[in-house]
Amino acid sequence: MSRSAVIAAALAAVALPFAPAAQAKTPFDGVWLFDEAPDRPGVTMMEVRSKGDAIEGEVTTQWYGPVTMQNARMEDGTLTFEATNINDWDHPTRTWHVAMADGKVQLTGQIWFSEIDETGHKGTAKDAKARAFAFTELPEMGAPIPGTLAPTPPMGWSSWNKFDEHIDDATVRAMADAMVATGLRDAGYTYINIDDGWQGTRDASGALQPNAKFPDMKALTDYVHARGLKIGIYSSQGPKTCAGYEGSYGHVKQDAQTFADWGFDYLKYDLCSGEWFYNDRDTVVRSYYEMGKALRETGRDILFSLCEYGRFEVGSWGRDVGGELWRTTGDITDDYKTMAQIGFDHNGKPEHAGPHGWNDPDMLEIGNGGMSADEYRTHMSLWAMSAAPLMMGHDLRETSADMLAILANRRVIAVDQDTRGIQGQAVRTEGTTEVWAKPLADGSVALALFNRAEAPITATMSAGDAGLASVSKVEDLWSGAVTSGLAGSYEVPAHGVVMLRVTA
Ligand code: GLA
Repeated sequence: MSRSAVIAAALAAVALPFAPAAQAKTPFDGVWLFDEAPDRPGVTMMEVRSKGDAIEGEVTTQWYGPVTMQNARMEDGTLTFEATNINDWDHPTRTWHVAMADGKVQLTGQIWFSEIDETGHKGTAKDAKARAFAFTELPEMGAPIPGTLAPTPPMGWSSWNKFDEHIDDATVRAMADAMVATGLRDAGYTYINIDDGWQGTRDASGALQPNAKFPDMKALTDYVHARGLKIGIYSSQGPKTCAGYEGSYGHVKQDAQTFADWGFDYLKYDLCSGEWFYNDRDTVVRSYYEMGKALRETGRDILFSLCEYGRFEVGSWGRDVGGELWRTTGDITDDYKTMAQIGFDHNGKPEHAGPHGWNDPDMLEIGNGGMSADEYRTHMSLWAMSAAPLMMGHDLRETSADMLAILANRRVIAVDQDTRGIQGQAVRTEGTTEVWAKPLADGSVALALFNRAEAPITATMSAGDAGLASVSKVEDLWSGAVTSGLAGSYEVPAHGVVMLRVTA
């Protein structure tokens, strides 16, 4: 024994008889169980341990796993503590309280937009073990996973914008049929994507099952494939998806294999609830890498779509994790203001975009009814100029002739799908007037004159805007008219656009 160890042992021997006979405990010490807490954040258990004046503990939730009590203290008979908050930069922590009445605890608090006000009853150490959150380790980054499936921005349809979580097998089949019947498939729209809301529970082996609305996933993918289309599915690296369904946490490889076995061709992977576990660049990147690698290892071609709202400059690493498109913004809604903010002001950097890696300003709202035809033309033009993925978001069965004319305009689609893969950008902005340019593979340039104002304008576009000395052919991509030169000026309706393809 070293000299200092001998002294420490001697001191301990002397000190022991004077230590308090029992450690002070709060009435909250122990295990508390919550059986009926709302799904979000799904509080299942609280554990409190006190030693003298020090109190520690955690609240276990289905969304975020254990939420640690910080600075836990007794205040007027109430246990009070701070808990880390999420997605709310103004409130990095929230204060939670636990009161006691009739031998039960009343837990109140808040995390992101979930309010907690739940009654818990006493549990045992055995209960605590049964409800303990099972953590899993993220793999380290390995070699970049090269994309092979999206040389041009992916096109298709997704269930979310119209159907929210109310999506089922019959509706997906109907969308595949309507994709063909409307001619949208032949215009280039390929993917039929099931977004959130398809998931059921895991079986005894941990394999994720669809819910009752999707009786047979393999039969569904066969149905869609038989129509010359591809089909996509959705998950999250967290324990929960954004709508509160089962996520892939702890089951990443298994889920990737399940999706492959069912015959899916596309996965949208959404950070929801995972942003608690993976909250810095390193862990977010590795969490996407984990799925990207698992998808690749299935041997099936599954296009990987990252959805983490542009955090940690996703465009700078999305390709490394096998992503071929990545969301750059929060969710679009069916109104001009949000669409314009996303499309004009918040999409990702053009230098990150190109073949097999696309900035994704979210899915289309065209046909959902919240914008005028001019505004929807702006939406389509802006996404095409941005080389954005074109994922329709309306009920394809209810595509009006007007909306079809917007969505199936092959001249505009060709700008989006141009093989050079350059993300266009504003070359001239004057107040609410923006001129955008997108150089194309054949040497021509797409030009768009956007009017973000609420009244019509008259404005110009020039060869210089296109980076050309002069132009000899001008095609108006919305009207189809072809002329040999630019007009002196263009009338643009409120919130509208004039879109051209100009050739030197
Ligand atoms: C997030 C995504 C949406 C959609 C929902 C599903 O909000 O950004 O596009 O996938 O989740 O819950």
